[in-house]
Amino acid sequence: MAARLAHITGSEHTALLGLGVYRPQRIVTNDEVAGPIDSSDEWIRTRSGIHTRRFATGSETVVTMSTEAARGALRSARIEAEQIDCVVLATSTWPLLTPAAAPQVATALGMGHPPAFDLSAGCAGFCHGLAVASDLIKGGTARHVLVIGVELLSATVNPADRATAFLFGDGAGAVVVGPASEPGIGPTVWGSDGTQHHAIRQDKNWVEFFAEFDERGAEAVRPWLAMEGTAVFRWAAHSLKQVCLDAIGAAGLRPGDLEAMIPHQANGRIIEIMARELDLSPSCALAGDIEEAGNTSAASIPLAMEALLRKGDAKPGADALLVAFGAGLSWAAQVVKLPNWQ
Ligand SMILES: CC(C)(COP(=O)(O)OP(=O)(O)OC[C@H]1O[C@@H](n2cnc3c(N)ncnc32)[C@H](O)[C@@H]1OP(=O)(O)O)[C@@H](O)C(=O)NCCC(=O)NCCS
Repeated sequence: MAARLAHITGSEHTALLGLGVYRPQRIVTNDEVAGPIDSSDEWIRTRSGIHTRRFATGSETVVTMSTEAARGALRSARIEAEQIDCVVLATSTWPLLTPAAAPQVATALGMGHPPAFDLSAGCAGFCHGLAVASDLIKGGTARHVLVIGVELLSATVNPADRATAFLFGDGAGAVVVGPASEPGIGPTVWGSDGTQHHAIRQDKNWVEFFAEFDERGAEAVRPWLAMEGTAVFRWAAHSLKQVCLDAIGAAGLRPGDLEAMIPHQANGRIIEIMARELDLSPSCALAGDIEEAGNTSAASIPLAMEALLRKGDAKPGADALLVAFGAGLSWAAQVVKLPNWQ
């Protein structure tokens, strides 16, 4: 096993060099999720902006979805797997507490033995991963870092829960981060608020579940994802404006300079309110992948980035604000130059 030594010279600037995604095969309509929660296609479209989402089936797992997305990112970055010095995988839905998923993804990609670890910051995980990757490269610890956001939320959401069953979907997105001659990833503005840990949570821990199982056997109810929807909505829609402004300012820009905004695809109405409050230029493209992907938590920003580029709403090199927020509560934002994606 070759030793991996830290590089001794960091890079002043970093950038997204390539992007890849994996969208599960199975498309799930609003009508399909509406039945068990006494809802309707119309209610779901109006309240969340979601038309369809995708659910993983069969061989589509956190590891296989990540691996496929990473292959696309490596291809578009024109980087070989062996050139990756570190893998950072953001997820809240890898079903094991240990070991992490990232080493299996690195192995599946034929990378040898790079450092590879999972990162848990809810829906803000991908933007946390970018911050870590960029600073690893600036500090000289790594030259190329693979950052993956991946979720299999259909396994953790209760189909009978009105607050969550219609909202979430599955998928994966990945980027290669590397050194650059000019700034391609702006400073990250991030934070957390543990007093709000209950707002989006696993509704019981595994120790509690097994105690219940010992007592009630097959009647024990497994843990599910739970969310205080209205509180999360208010917080996300109205409290993150300053985070966005700080990230834009830290990149040396004003809101009107942005060519794209890619907020976490939490809810279509939250996205609209956030964009409206920032006073963006009319030509600024606003990501709206929630329509087709639902809320895919840590995967949502790279998936939305790919949709924006694929549809031609924004081009590689465009200045885009990324802002992600969710369980923790936690949040992170940075301005990036959009990468190549093919
Ligand atoms: C979940 C969410 C869409 C619910 O919308 P809301 O406007 O807050 O809905 P409320 O819970 O206040 O309920 C409003 C009405 O819709 C009904 N309702 C709630 N869920 C429903 C559902 N799934 N289908 C149909 N009706 C529903 C309620 O019973 C209520 O009816 P009433 O007015 O007759 O009493 C919204 O709170 C939300 O998107 N929150 C943020 C979620 C999010 O982004 N989470 C991820 C962050 S990472």
